[in-house]
Amino acid sequence: MVLTAGGFTVLLHSLGLSQGLFKPAPRTYPTTAQGLSKAAITSDESASHAGGGINYQLQSEDPGTIDKGEPVDDAATSTGCMIDPYDAYDADEQGFSTFDQDKANVYRYRQQQSVNLGSWFVHEQWMTPSLFKCATGDQLSELDIASGWGSLDAARSVLERHWDTFINASDFDYLAGIGINTVRLPIGYWSLGPTYCEGTPFEPVAEVYQNAWSRVVRAINMAGDAGVGVLVDLHGAPGSQNGQPHSGISDGEVNLFDNDWYINKTMSVLTFLTRELINATNVVGIQILNEPSNVDSLPAFYSQAISTMRQADPLAKAFPLYIHDAFDLAHYSDFVANRSDFVVLDHHSYFVFTPGDVVEPAAQHTKDVQGPISDALAAAAARQRGNLVIGEFSCALTDESLSGEADPDAARRNFCQGQMETYRNLTAGWAFWAYDKEDCSDDHGWCFKAAIGQSLLSTFFPYGFGPIGDPSRIPALADMASNMTDSSHQDVTAVMAPFSPNDSLPSYPPTPALGLFSDKRNFMSPVSNLYRREDSAPLPDDPSERAIAKGYSDGFLTAKVFALFDMSKLGFAGQYIADSLAKLGPDVIQPGKEHFYEQWFMEGLVDGETVVTSAVAVLPRK
Ligand SMILES: *[C@@H]1O[C@H](CO)[C@@H](O)[C@H](O)[C@H]1NC(C)=O
Ligand SMILES: *[C@@H]1O[C@H](CO)[C@@H](O)[C@H](O)[C@H]1NC(C)=O
Ligand SMILES: *[C@@H]1O[C@H](CO)[C@@H](O)[C@H](O)[C@H]1NC(C)=O
Ligand SMILES: *[C@@H]1O[C@H](CO)[C@@H](O)[C@H](O)[C@H]1NC(C)=O
Ligand SMILES: *[C@@H]1O[C@H](CO)[C@@H](O)[C@H](O)[C@H]1NC(C)=O
Ligand SMILES: *[C@@H]1O[C@H](CO)[C@@H](O)[C@H](O)[C@H]1NC(C)=O
Ligand SMILES: *[C@@H]1O[C@H](CO)[C@@H](O)[C@H](O)[C@H]1NC(C)=O
Repeated sequence: MVLTAGGFTVLLHSLGLSQGLFKPAPRTYPTTAQGLSKAAITSDESASHAGGGINYQLQSEDPGTIDKGEPVDDAATSTGCMIDPYDAYDADEQGFSTFDQDKANVYRYRQQQSVNLGSWFVHEQWMTPSLFKCATGDQLSELDIASGWGSLDAARSVLERHWDTFINASDFDYLAGIGINTVRLPIGYWSLGPTYCEGTPFEPVAEVYQNAWSRVVRAINMAGDAGVGVLVDLHGAPGSQNGQPHSGISDGEVNLFDNDWYINKTMSVLTFLTRELINATNVVGIQILNEPSNVDSLPAFYSQAISTMRQADPLAKAFPLYIHDAFDLAHYSDFVANRSDFVVLDHHSYFVFTPGDVVEPAAQHTKDVQGPISDALAAAAARQRGNLVIGEFSCALTDESLSGEADPDAARRNFCQGQMETYRNLTAGWAFWAYDKEDCSDDHGWCFKAAIGQSLLSTFFPYGFGPIGDPSRIPALADMASNMTDSSHQDVTAVMAPFSPNDSLPSYPPTPALGLFSDKRNFMSPVSNLYRREDSAPLPDDPSERAIAKGYSDGFLTAKVFALFDMSKLGFAGQYIADSLAKLGPDVIQPGKEHFYEQWFMEGLVDGETVVTSAVAVLPRK
């Protein structure tokens, strides 16, 4: 069928859809695809690179092909399934520290360098097989773990120990230390606790999750202590949005979308998450669903979820909400383009799941990323004001893809770093799948900790340098800050003009901008003249000049503010400008002049980032 037609495969690639055929619920798989599913990949020699993991696709169709180990239903009495009791510490008192809207704006609008914390709260057999050793049934999903291990207490011990040890505060410090500024945190509805398990397949095991939500809160706080943002991702929704084991169940069924009760339940899960997380300074957003089946009602489901969440809290109107594109980038790009609020499209990018991808040489994958895929991403980003992230990608290639390469390690490196560069250039952020797993060191394709400095670069700082601690303590940056602003703008919060409670206008950046600006003097003299002034100047009366001056000033200051905050760069610039315009209102930017504001905001932003780059360039390197 379509997969064998070379031209069509290229088209799929160009749309970023090549992996899409393999992600829907098992019952919708084309027959020809099955033989080349993740299970098939795992069974050949490429298993170690393609991720031992990929053996979860066929089970509901053909359980006989899967090695299930030795399922032990009465686990506690069977050899190997005895577990040490785990005395979980009491995390009930976990809460968030005082909300800081200005810092939250930086977290939420900045460019993201991110990793997924997979198999921490939603388990995948290929990543953490030890937790599945005494799981029940097909030993594939979270539910099989919770139902296994001989008793609910034992299963709870296994999970609580894992929550408390798999990733800890040192991991977040490590990530911040190499320039990872965000993590994507997959959770399931069961992670919200026993109440949310009622009426679902998790009801019989609800008590296993009595301490789960406090761990999620703790994870967010540990990230926050390291200055790392968190995208909370509903990976497992009530009823299952994709029938995949990584949605929590092993029966392969997608029951969410045609069942009002499950839809309501999911809305209450999303409402809870919104109310709990809206005031967490370092939560960058909530992802409504991970990799849902692309059912006809999905756009309507998304619209309902978005409006439900926006109404859940007065502050939620501007809260970033992420939707996955269900492997139909163009369609959901339209969906985001049709809206004006902070909705972000998440696209996943893998190269090991389709028959075409399995055999394609690594170098060709790299070319695809920088050619047709890059074009498709650029087109989507342009359509939807840049509200696009690559929420999952990896360095994984099959052995077959690597076999023709003279230097396989170099080929994988080019492929992986090529992806990162493309995603960084064209989207507001990328997130590697995944940070850690068992047997990590053998897996440069899927395990971030092993890929660092190998298939991936060693650091990811947006300005290429760090960590530098508090940038305002660096003489060159402090100097820059003082030259650029008057004293009222020393404080980061005062410069966040569009979002500050004080809606008075900031002054224009004086002297340092002059040099950068002089070449534009001839065609934009009104602006250049303004920037000659050392003191703060009133905005010009002419509506066009006013939009230009205010746009440039805001862009320039925004670059500085983001840099002063962990050397960040603005990522969601289009949304930031749109939200700024809405906040400034028609008295400041006359309707019809928005394009001047927008264009000159970007000019100011680029100039501001150039100033920061030069300031950073003179810092001593270690
Ligand atoms: C995190 O776990 C590692 C071992 O996995 C340990 O060396 C480190 O001390 C732990 N850090 C904290 C803050 O508990
Ligand atoms: C779902 O929620 C709607 C609105 O709250 C309600 O009218 C409907 O009865 C609910 N359906 C189910 C099956 O609970
Ligand atoms: C969030 O913070 C605002 C003030 O910053 C406060 O009015 C509101 O009640 C808080 N909401 C929650 C759910 O804590
Ligand atoms: C976007 O809006 C257009 C025009 O109203 C409409 O035809 C189209 O179906 C919408 N697309 C999506 C995905 O909602
Ligand atoms: C990314 O952007 C940089 C700077 O504009 C450019 O030099 C580089 O070629 C771009 N890379 C890709 C893969 O688009
Ligand atoms: C800041 O201003 C001082 C004197 O006004 C000047 O010596 C210094 O070079 C300026 N720094 C920058 C980064 O422009
Ligand atoms: C708002 O800004 C103006 C001008 O910078 C200042 O005079 C005023 O005190 C500020 N008001 C508040 C509430 O911060």
